[in-house]
Amino acid sequence: MATALDRHIALVGFMGAGKTTLGVELAETLGRPFVDVDREVEQVGGATIPELFEQRGEAGFRKLEEWVAGVDLRTREPAVIALGGGAVLSEKTREELRANAFTVFLDVDADTAWERCQGSDRPLAQDAETFRRLYDERRPLYEHCADARAADAESAVLAAGGVHVEEEALARLAELVPGSGPVALVADAHVAGIHGPQAQAGLGTRLAATYQLPAGEPAKQLAEIEQLWRALRLDRGGTIVALGGGTATDAAGFAAATYLRGVPWVPVPTTLVGQVDAAIGGKTAIDLPEGKNLVGAFHWPAATVIDPMTLETLPEEQHRQGRAELVKTALLAGRTLDVRGAAAYKTAICLGDPHDRGRRSWLNLGHTFAHALEAGTGFELAHGDAVALGLLAALRLSGNEDGVRDVETLLDPQPVRADVERAWEAMRRDKKAADGRIRLVLLPRNGHPEWPVELPDGDVRRELERLIA
Ligand SMILES: NC(=O)c1ccc[n+]([C@@H]2O[C@H](COP(=O)([O-])OP(=O)(O)OC[C@H]3O[C@@H](n4cnc5c(N)ncnc54)[C@H](O)[C@@H]3O)[C@@H](O)[C@H]2O)c1
Repeated sequence: MATALDRHIALVGFMGAGKTTLGVELAETLGRPFVDVDREVEQVGGATIPELFEQRGEAGFRKLEEWVAGVDLRTREPAVIALGGGAVLSEKTREELRANAFTVFLDVDADTAWERCQGSDRPLAQDAETFRRLYDERRPLYEHCADARAADAESAVLAAGGVHVEEEALARLAELVPGSGPVALVADAHVAGIHGPQAQAGLGTRLAATYQLPAGEPAKQLAEIEQLWRALRLDRGGTIVALGGGTATDAAGFAAATYLRGVPWVPVPTTLVGQVDAAIGGKTAIDLPEGKNLVGAFHWPAATVIDPMTLETLPEEQHRQGRAELVKTALLAGRTLDVRGAAAYKTAICLGDPHDRGRRSWLNLGHTFAHALEAGTGFELAHGDAVALGLLAALRLSGNEDGVRDVETLLDPQPVRADVERAWEAMRRDKKAADGRIRLVLLPRNGHPEWPVELPDGDVRRELERLIA
């Protein structure tokens, strides 16, 4: 399985690997239930694991464990499921994992595992020699059933979302694009001139053809997509790789979602906005004359390949646009984040809410104000600059002084000249308004978003006006 979208994330690994601790953290980040198979076995068996071993012998215990794991893995609602260290000994459980879960091998070295387990009541951790023998025996089994290996929650989330962050990843595209079929490379024309040759070399013999989209927002025109649809020569075994900023990945992703009713795609974002935001989460879109992103599809990428080295050629102005989204994500997470951390945060939110029906709305922090300012400036104001101002307003309304200070220090947004009435109108029309009432994401404390929050119009308008020079 390439990703954990709509599937369980199952954690396997040896005793002492930290499956339960990581599982709880992962479930919390993803907004999914956490299931600890060991605890459920104890409940169903009516005794502790050492007692069950005693009463039923290891074989009896394994039968019960296999049954419980099977029930959990066949439950429809995607959860995070931690399995006991020996659960993968069962062929049936391994089959259930293959059929129903994205399986993450939580790796730990034998010494650390023994340090954590010795002296505990775990039946198979009573002497060091048996412990090490089991470790050596089981390791290949974990490797065999795992879709990915991880050492912490961040790498587990990224793996579960199919997101790969690696310097010089462009050179390894042929390996990082799932499958072995042909690839159509669709690139932003400007980026093609800078990073195209490296991407083509990285795709090697998998590269079937290269297509170019106009640089920037003009890529998101229906006419461009029609040209691309008509030029593409791919069957369903092929993959579209999209190289460029958010415009190229939105447009090529939309082409992938619609061509032949959907072919797999892999965004390779080359802007900061793309790497921390646009290329993650499976939203694809094009623009209409009536507005941006009005036609699109949810189409989760087979993988997302982030090569931070591509940012070295990005103009400072574009870095600034991306920094606003990075700071927004860090405020939501409640901690400082680098590109990898921000990509992981967005991946977690989107895996937990792929179709934007709940917590994904958190990502709109500051955006209702930003869209209003964009409209109020006749779309002269760049999106990132609008987001920086929007964050300020949302945090002031939240009464979050720390957050306000963070935004002022990191982004230093300055009031802009804009038409207040047009901005206010746009704000009331914003898609997050219900029955004409404006619904906002607020952040009373960093790391603790609230949505939806409705406030008196007067308060909201006052904050909007403070953003306008
Ligand atoms: N799908 C989503 O969830 C989502 C989220 C946020 C934004 N978006 C969309 O993303 C778009 C904005 O994306 P963006 O900010 O990346 O802008 P962009 O794609 O327009 O790129 C900005 C400019 O930088 C150039 N460029 C890109 N990478 C470069 C590099 N490495 N070196 C030098 N130049 C480079 C491009 O040619 C372009 O001119 C908007 O259309 C927005 O709607 C989508």
